[in-house]
Amino acid sequence: MMGKPLIQLENLVKIYDTGAIKVLGLKKINLTIERGEFVAIMGHSGSGKSTLMNILGCLDRPTLGHYYLDGTDVAEMTPDALSDIRNRKIGFVFQSFNLISRTSALKNVELPMTYARVPKARRRARAQELLARVGLGARMGHMPNELSGGQRQRVAIARALANEPPLLLADEPTGNLDTAASIEIMELFTELHREGVTVVLVTHEEDIAAFAKRVIRFGDGQILSDVRREEKTC
Ligand SMILES: Nc1ncnc2c1ncn2[C@@H]1O[C@H](COP(=O)(O)OP(=O)(O)O)[C@@H](O)[C@H]1O
Ligand SMILES: [Mg+2]
Repeated sequence: MMGKPLIQLENLVKIYDTGAIKVLGLKKINLTIERGEFVAIMGHSGSGKSTLMNILGCLDRPTLGHYYLDGTDVAEMTPDALSDIRNRKIGFVFQSFNLISRTSALKNVELPMTYARVPKARRRARAQELLARVGLGARMGHMPNELSGGQRQRVAIARALANEPPLLLADEPTGNLDTAASIEIMELFTELHREGVTVVLVTHEEDIAAFAKRVIRFGDGQILSDVRREEKTC
């Protein structure tokens, strides 16, 4: 069942041109991530993790080399095509949740579907289903400031799943959470992975990375190691 990989990076280079100096963000990265993988990206500050996530999320383009997302070369896409692919293929989860304040959990989850022009009734039903899925069935009308950090992140995950993207990207999703809430969030990612979602997350905590099935360590814009854990069969 090996089709084309979901993510394929070929000799990918990212140079930040800040005028006076050029900073090498990523140096000739080659990386393949198959559909359904659960990957943690680790590395010290400045090692290139966010640069990689921005490229994987089509928020930024490689300077050299190729990024094939689901077989399509992202470098050759127009800005409109890129924003379309972001909305349909990628769900984003951020360290700081990035929910819209003074807007209910339900409306926050509906928003990506509004952009994707999903009809209102369908949108509402799916947002309710997703919030129930992440354990917030009783909190749909709550505003972000009426929710705990862990609950806010669960709303953000429900929102990220709204358009059924094949890829979920998370940059330090537990960075603002206490240990108990972090574990809950990682258990939720684990369940989503079991349901077939491809999850790629950045963390600097070993305990968090331990939930993933593959850990890729970055240093100085390069991949230092790439280790797969055996899947438990049960
Ligand atoms: N917008 C930018 N302009 C210039 N240099 C940048 C920019 N973003 C990141 N960098 C540089 O690229 C390298 C990788 O940074 P980053 O991807 O943010 O690392 P990490 O997320 O692992 O901390 C660092 O040397 C950083 O200073
Ligand atoms: Mg970073």
